[in-house]
Amino acid sequence: MDSIHITTPHRSYPIHFGALTPKLQFKGKVLVVSNSCVGALYLDFLLPKISAPEICICIIEDGEHYKTFESVQRILETAFLHRLDRKSTMIALGGGVVGDIVGFAAGIFMRGIDFVQIPTTLLAQVDASIGGKTGINNVFGKNLVGLFHQPASVHIDPFFLRTLPAREFAAGVAEIIKMAVTFDAPFFEWLWEHHLSLETQDSLLTALRGAISIKQRVVCQDEKEQGLRAALNYGHTFGHAIEKESGYGHYLHGEAVSMGMVMVNALACKHGCLTTSEAERICTLLQSYNLPTHYKILNKQQFYHSLFLDKKTANNKIKFILPDSIGNVLFYDKFTYEEIMNVLEQFCDS
Ligand code: NAD
Ligand code: GLY
Repeated sequence: MDSIHITTPHRSYPIHFGALTPKLQFKGKVLVVSNSCVGALYLDFLLPKISAPEICICIIEDGEHYKTFESVQRILETAFLHRLDRKSTMIALGGGVVGDIVGFAAGIFMRGIDFVQIPTTLLAQVDASIGGKTGINNVFGKNLVGLFHQPASVHIDPFFLRTLPAREFAAGVAEIIKMAVTFDAPFFEWLWEHHLSLETQDSLLTALRGAISIKQRVVCQDEKEQGLRAALNYGHTFGHAIEKESGYGHYLHGEAVSMGMVMVNALACKHGCLTTSEAERICTLLQSYNLPTHYKILNKQQFYHSLFLDKKTANNKIKFILPDSIGNVLFYDKFTYEEIMNVLEQFCDS
């Protein structure tokens, strides 16, 4: 099993690739948290691999809808009932939802204990499990309550992906394409040449490594998103507005990001940093994974206002992340109302 390391001012930790064969050894108690779907599939597989003085389990409900304080509360109660202490560790077994919730619970339990990420979706393996962003949703929006709390280790085992529905797999590929477009032109070309699938394990592992290396480089330079890390939100400003307008849950997050990338590419073409043929190539690559690439805006005015809900908005200016050709990125916050509306107009027809 090989690994790469994330080093931030607060912590250095490994991301291990490959089968979870060696025992996961802990000196203190361990609380394994999963959801009803992943727990049923993989708890029996995971538990014999853990060596600890005591192992307890907490199962939360499945879905974004349960990324709430109530789920955090359930985890904390289990931790207190089993007398976890500051030497204990929480393990997140699941997709990005479980990982974000458990990271948050571990970050606030007794002012912060270790947690380990064992991501089971492609999206969580390439993105969500790495970099220490944790949190929950509330009525005001997604991921608005949370903290940076880096895991003690991350274990990427493609074995888990064999049961992942095709739509969830494609949503993870959208995040891989996002990283290639923003940071790595040769990786984009590689993705263009290789079609990823669960059957072709070698190319899947290469893609996992490629995407994770990009995320590692970015997080090591800018742990708390003071600058560069915001580039990982390429496609997300429009993506979040799409999720809001279409009703949360209608599209998977990766699907909304796919359409969001196509929308922001239209702005980038207007700005002159992306050519039409580059935008078409990105769109074609997304389509080759059956990802949606055209969203029909229902209410242009409301959609425009949703763009401001983005965490990158400052002083009432939306900071757009634009591909600067393929493989580079730039931030731009000077588009006029008319320029943005003009692009939105292109997405109002079917
Ligand atoms: P998810 O966690 O909801 O998982 C998707 C579905 O797949 C769920 O129903 C889950 O139970 C199921 N599932 C998980 N693993 C499976 C497996 N191996 N086999 C079969 N089914 C499986 O969604 P996700 O796409 O993994 O993550 C989305 C979440 O991640 C969002 O809440 C988003 O905000 C968050 N996120 C966080 C970061 C970060 O940096 N922290 C980055 C990107 C996304
Ligand atoms: N997924 C965006 C980030 O980790 O910053």
